[in-house]
Amino acid sequence: MDTPSLLHHPGIQRAAAMLKKGKVVAFPTETVYGLGGDATSEKAVDSIFEAKGRPSDNPLIVHIADTDQMKSLVREVPPIGKKLMNRFWPGPLTLILPQGDRVVPRVTAGLDTVGIRMPDHPVALALLKLAGVPVAAPSANLSGKPSPTKATHVWHDLAGRIDALIDGGATGVGVESTVLDISGEIPVLLRPGGITRTMLEEVLGPIQADQNMEQPVISPRSPGMKYRHYAPAGKMWLVIGEGMELKKKVQELADQGEKEGHQVAIMTTEEHRDFYRARWVLACGKYRQPETVAQGLYECLRQFDQLGADWIVAEGFPPVGLFHSVMNRLIKAAEGRVVHS
Ligand code: TXA
Ligand code: MG
Repeated sequence: MDTPSLLHHPGIQRAAAMLKKGKVVAFPTETVYGLGGDATSEKAVDSIFEAKGRPSDNPLIVHIADTDQMKSLVREVPPIGKKLMNRFWPGPLTLILPQGDRVVPRVTAGLDTVGIRMPDHPVALALLKLAGVPVAAPSANLSGKPSPTKATHVWHDLAGRIDALIDGGATGVGVESTVLDISGEIPVLLRPGGITRTMLEEVLGPIQADQNMEQPVISPRSPGMKYRHYAPAGKMWLVIGEGMELKKKVQELADQGEKEGHQVAIMTTEEHRDFYRARWVLACGKYRQPETVAQGLYECLRQFDQLGADWIVAEGFPPVGLFHSVMNRLIKAAEGRVVHS
């Protein structure tokens, strides 16, 4: 269904009414499920942090359905901001801009900037339009766990902790939005996501990437980068390299885990699956279609926990296009256990 017809959907109307009352509602976007609350309500924003167990110094993205909402949320939109909004909204791009003072301080974790995005999902857009308020929404997972790409993932993590969940089926992109800071002189890429660096550079020319982006360490510019993220319960290794050398190293690490008595799982793609021997070999999408790997990534990471794998060896990807975003998440999931083949 499209957004105009969904405006009449009783379930979405009910969820919007809840948002207006300061309740928190999980909903689908084109990237991952979000846990939404009125960004101007202290109570709602507090509930989001509490439900997720999220550290207070990690700011939230504010979601809007209409660019008119920008006026009160930001002090100004630079010309490149307008260009980016025209080109990529609605869509998986979050823009960091100097903030107005509409949202409660906890949304921005005390920073003088605010992250804003317009999601490209009919359910999200209908919900945001009906609610009529800017909606702060982090991914709807417990803090530290892989982001949810299905309603069942949200339910697994947050049942009993939230007021409502809208099931809109599996999300499309599978990794979160790209976060681009345009509050300063030079645009800085803080998190690679659904919009690739190449797509941004087609509009902006060369951009800078935050130096700490690929490392699970403290970055002053995007507080979200310093925390343990996306991690399965088992110990994960990420192997980088190419061709046969890469595959051999993956198998070697898996064999080592097995020898040490671990429950071993390998994460690969459909094309490479038959190469490997391990207790579990999971194909997360097709190597030749990076969008399918992005789509399947978080489901795969969650499966390792369900299977009970305590030693996971992931085959790395060349860090370009959507694989760049996938690798960014895998490096964090592996908590720095990156092995070169
Ligand atoms: O695709 C997405 O962006 C999803 C869906 C639900 O919209 N949301 C999402 O939110 O991924 P979350 O909270 O999981 O990630 C938000 C990221 C964090 O890394 C946070 O630090 C960064 O955006 N962020 C938010 N506001 C910021 C700001 N003012 N300055 C720098 N980074 C900011
Ligand atoms: Mg998140």
